[in-house]
Amino acid sequence: MPERDRNDLPRRRFLVQLAAGTGLVAGGLSACASATPLRGRRIEGRIVWPHKELEDRLRDGPVLLVTGEGFPEALLLIRTEEGGYRALGARCTHLGCQVRPGKHVLRCPCHGSVFDLAGNVIRGPAAKPLPGYDLEVTESHLEIVVE
Ligand code: FES
Repeated sequence: MPERDRNDLPRRRFLVQLAAGTGLVAGGLSACASATPLRGRRIEGRIVWPHKELEDRLRDGPVLLVTGEGFPEALLLIRTEEGGYRALGARCTHLGCQVRPGKHVLRCPCHGSVFDLAGNVIRGPAAKPLPGYDLEVTESHLEIVVE
């Protein structure tokens, strides 16, 4: 084996292992940073989910990020302490970053605004609450009105 190849071999192995390790770390971080958003589709001005699907998805916490085709913006679907639902826009009222779901508060990653689960500002720089969306609850489905 020529001298150059012998010297390159450990370096190649190192790079392969580094790439594999980085992928694992990045995958782990992204899994921790946010849960998979609930996807939906807008049909005639409404986004509709069966209660069963929502109950399954809300098992780990009271807030879901919901996105989908035709949405005016990403939304936060919140299970209230009384067992009802609330829908808020997920666009921060400061400069428009996407607010992250949390168990007790909603945090904006850009400049640190914090909102309660009703969308009210707890800490700025945001000055306005997150906008609310009307909901309709039927026996089998939850509908977010986005028209
Ligand atoms: Fe959210 Fe600035 S965009 S705090």
